[in-house]
Amino acid sequence: MVNPLSKRQIDYNLASRDGWQAFASHREIVTELLSVGARPGNSRLCILGAGNSNDVDLAHLLRSHREIHLVDLDADALVRGVARQGFAENPAVKCHGGIDVTGMLDTLAAKSPQCEIRPADVDAFIAEPFRQVGSALPGPFDVVASTCLLSQLIGAVSDTLGQGHPRFLEVVQAIRAGHLHLLVQLVSPGGISVLTTDIVSSDSHPPLRSVAEETLFDVVAQLIADRNFFHGVNPAVLLSLFRSDPLLEREVASVEASRPWRWNLGPRVYAVCALTARRRGIGASQGDSECESLSGKCCCCKP
Ligand SMILES: C[S@@+](CC[C@H](N)C(=O)[O-])C[C@H]1O[C@@H](n2cnc3c(N)ncnc32)[C@H](O)[C@@H]1O
Repeated sequence: MVNPLSKRQIDYNLASRDGWQAFASHREIVTELLSVGARPGNSRLCILGAGNSNDVDLAHLLRSHREIHLVDLDADALVRGVARQGFAENPAVKCHGGIDVTGMLDTLAAKSPQCEIRPADVDAFIAEPFRQVGSALPGPFDVVASTCLLSQLIGAVSDTLGQGHPRFLEVVQAIRAGHLHLLVQLVSPGGISVLTTDIVSSDSHPPLRSVAEETLFDVVAQLIADRNFFHGVNPAVLLSLFRSDPLLEREVASVEASRPWRWNLGPRVYAVCALTARRRGIGASQGDSECESLSGKCCCCKP
């Protein structure tokens, strides 16, 4: 029995299944980001939230990586996405359908604005993703990506507990920490994690569709300053977690935020950015994690 949260994701994927053309410029940027840290013929890439795979060019990525592992709760979306790109029979592309990256979606789907959330529930949102997904996947991988998935995970908290629940924020923070921990722990020592996340859409800022490319950075920075962004995905806060969260601080050697770009999903346009983190190598000493884009390239560190 599919829970209503999963059903919603499956419906979204059906609605965006023909997005290949519209996603072109977004796909080019995401594909380039996932080629960082590649060792052609050797490295293994894992993509969480791959869905229809309209945002990744598999042929290009297979020139960079030996294997590509696609992970999503929606098994059918993975199959049709891989088939569309002509890789249904290619053993280097492996689909892991039916995997919930939170490990908690059934539990979350049963919650309501009136329900009690105990400290143990909050802890489970942090620990379950790696405990369950780590053992379900053949990791670690050289590069692990999460493609515009975080906002969906946080959206599930809004849809169930609701923003008025006294522990809403705590659960959002726990889901987010659990996801970042999962990303980093699936990466082999010295490897790369890439979190792409949508920040805000043209629904709450219609001019996002048409602002000049060269002003996008300033527009997004202003929207963030005005608190016009999706819950839990402020890039500056995400970046700060790499310094304040004990596991991330311990495991991550460096982290860099990209400039924002636009993702055209048809009915709406999203501003998206990426955080690319390198996991410490074996025996590497623990220095400060830092944003390498403080020069002003990063969308959260406006000069
Ligand atoms: C915004 S879409 C990403 C776009 C997708 N890469 C594409 O090109 O179609 C987010 C994806 O995350 C998946 N997803 C959402 N929640 C999930 C969860 N808890 N576990 C696994 N996958 C999830 C959805 O099924 C969807 O495919």
